[in-house]
Amino acid sequence: MAPAGIFISFEGIDGAGKSTHIEGLAQAFRAQGRAVTQTREPGGTPLAEKLRAMVLADAMDDLTEVLLLFAARRDHLLQVIEPALARGDMVLCDRFTDATFAYQGSGRGFDWQVLGQLEQWVQNTPGQGAGGTSFLRQPDLTLWFDLPPELAAQRLAGARLPDRFEAQPVEFFRRVANGYAQRLAAAPGRFASIDATLERHAVWQQITQALVRRGWLSIMVSNTKRP
Ligand code: TMP
Repeated sequence: MAPAGIFISFEGIDGAGKSTHIEGLAQAFRAQGRAVTQTREPGGTPLAEKLRAMVLADAMDDLTEVLLLFAARRDHLLQVIEPALARGDMVLCDRFTDATFAYQGSGRGFDWQVLGQLEQWVQNTPGQGAGGTSFLRQPDLTLWFDLPPELAAQRLAGARLPDRFEAQPVEFFRRVANGYAQRLAAAPGRFASIDATLERHAVWQQITQALVRRGWLSIMVSNTKRP
């Protein structure tokens, strides 16, 4: 029988250092013989990547931004995430809906209740719950890379031309970090908080420990010095 698919999302403010670790984890899972779907939000499908380019570059009002993000998410869920989970893949997704609550909800001040409603509509998966009921698709685990905004800003300084979010002041990222903390408080069992101030190998160890604890990664693979 194929193993059950597992959905892991990676969150944090810009500059928190998720990317190298997502790559390292994909390699670790493949080394264990698991199929991996590595993807990102906004994006992950041709349509959602077009929406991503608009959201990151074009000026728009907050509701338009929220609707484009959820439209991209709907396409991504239907085309990529749900089929991958049905195949039994490890799905590693760079950001998911917690980012919308953190960036649009807390960062921009958009209504959390409306976001909750959109989350229900977009992530409703008919017929896949127990006894053929609907359920709300959420990541099985969210790794939150927690880093003070001032440190993230230092890391990002001069790295590349900033997009519409990276160009925001430190105060915006303080609110975003608070938004993530609120999402964690509301669903602590879904989150593992990673201290992203530490050096890279120590961060990697925290990540692999969270996965070994859940029985998703073997101790042998997690001990390899990666990334
Ligand atoms: P990335 O640079 O990590 O790929 O993310 C792109 C940017 O989009 C990042 O600054 C966070 C932002 N974002 C939102 O504002 N809301 C969302 O729902 C998502 C998924 C990302």
